[in-house]
Amino acid sequence: MPKITFVHRDGSETVVDAKNGLSVMETAVDNDVEIEAACEGSLACATCHLVVEDQDWFDRLDPPSEDEEDMLDLAFGLTKTSRLSCQIRVSDALDGIRFRVPDET
Ligand code: FES
Repeated sequence: MPKITFVHRDGSETVVDAKNGLSVMETAVDNDVEIEAACEGSLACATCHLVVEDQDWFDRLDPPSEDEEDMLDLAFGLTKTSRLSCQIRVSDALDGIRFRVPDET
């Protein structure tokens, strides 16, 4: 089980033993990370926006689809390592990654 760290807006952290095959969004919601995920993963909102803390980790992820990029443009608090967490699948390759809740939602 890969370990994923979520950094909350107040700076506190939740380290999760994530289940392979779930999305990062589902993992976050299951662990009370403060994202809304209003469309439940159908790429129709931007409320599952999380920021990958480290550029190297961001570069290692499969790149976002065009649809994800279009939707990300609507996200508040966009950064250059922002992703929609419903579009990232948990796998062992994510062991050690850290996601931060954006300052604005
Ligand atoms: Fe709506 Fe990810 S949950 S785009």
